[in-house]
Amino acid sequence: MPSEIIYMCRRCGDLLSVEYNVDLMRPEIASNWVGRALSVWRYAELLPIVDRNKIVSLGEGGTSLNKCDRLGGYLGLKEVYVKNEGENPTGSFKDRGMTVGVTKALEMSMKRVACASTGNTSASLAAYAAKAGLECIVLIPSGKVALGKLVQAIIYGARVIQVKGNFDDALRIVEELCMTQPIYLLNSINPYRLEGQKTIAFEIWDQLGGKVPDKVIVPVGNAGNISAIWKGFRELYLMGLINRLPRMIGIQAEGAAPIANMIKMGSSEIKFVEKPETIATAIRIGSPVNWKKAVKAIRESGGLAETVSDEEILSAQKLLARLEGIFVEPASAASIAGLIKLSKNGLVEKDELVVCVATGHGLKDPDIILRQFPKPIEIEVDVNTLIKILSV
Ligand code: F0G
Repeated sequence: MPSEIIYMCRRCGDLLSVEYNVDLMRPEIASNWVGRALSVWRYAELLPIVDRNKIVSLGEGGTSLNKCDRLGGYLGLKEVYVKNEGENPTGSFKDRGMTVGVTKALEMSMKRVACASTGNTSASLAAYAAKAGLECIVLIPSGKVALGKLVQAIIYGARVIQVKGNFDDALRIVEELCMTQPIYLLNSINPYRLEGQKTIAFEIWDQLGGKVPDKVIVPVGNAGNISAIWKGFRELYLMGLINRLPRMIGIQAEGAAPIANMIKMGSSEIKFVEKPETIATAIRIGSPVNWKKAVKAIRESGGLAETVSDEEILSAQKLLARLEGIFVEPASAASIAGLIKLSKNGLVEKDELVVCVATGHGLKDPDIILRQFPKPIEIEVDVNTLIKILSV
């Protein structure tokens, strides 16, 4: 029942997913989309909200899909695109999920919402809860959340609680909290959030003029987003709007790579990472709750998974900024680092159309940049000194 507050299947204990009546799965539905702005709600027919007048929105979605010719040229690839999710209202793709999830919280008459987060989910939930007038509780791993994200949760008025543990620990206790208290859980175990996130696939399809990418490269943490994007493409396929599907490529940081390791080993079992570690704190996750959905997405699509080191992540972050003017946070740069590694290994071919999903804005984590570069030079107010400096 869509009005029931439930996160797991009562029979098998697995996560739930939203499925639509087959009557909706017709290509004609897309004619409604044409006159609407590119945004999450352009695709309202395929979003699980009953009353569209009550939508809690901050203008999410409609992010740019940048054709990256300089990056492509550097890698010897013809068609590389970056979907810049940092352009969302709170600076990450999480806003796509929260506009749906927080609207759902209102539909269910909930007064309090909560999540565990490596930073972006909490920033986003805090903003949408503020807009909806709901009380927001966020649990974050102590000392492991990028400054910009922490600041966001605080200014939007969330109750921010630091947990002396990692993200997986924080998620475990917030789940327990929400199972026993009237608090609506908005982590990606909530299937409504993933519905909003699947619009990344719809927008890519729209922005490519109906073309389907050969490969979509996504950084993977708790593994909701790659599952959501795959669901989006599958729905376009089921509706008869596309006649083939992209391969889904999941990228994880070396120190937090249970899914990538499983896929690379061709294993049927996952080995969670007890003490995940990476500079990309957004994806510092050892027990991704959506792992089954993500593994299915990667395998069903004929895709693959790869790991990247912290060094590769930071160097990809710099490269994207310098070649394309796109500043993303380290977790997002993991998808670019993945592209670089795969193309070097011949796993992305020259003529393939590749889309990297850049999940969050670089300004979220300024510390990581300042640590790598010297302080800018300082001079007196004197043009001759300036000219002298510039000539060397
Ligand atoms: N990129 C960024 C910038 C993220 O913040 C996250 C997840 C991911 C990628 C991975 O997405 O979890 O769906 O596989 N951040 C969560 C958070 C965990 O709490 O903000 P995923």
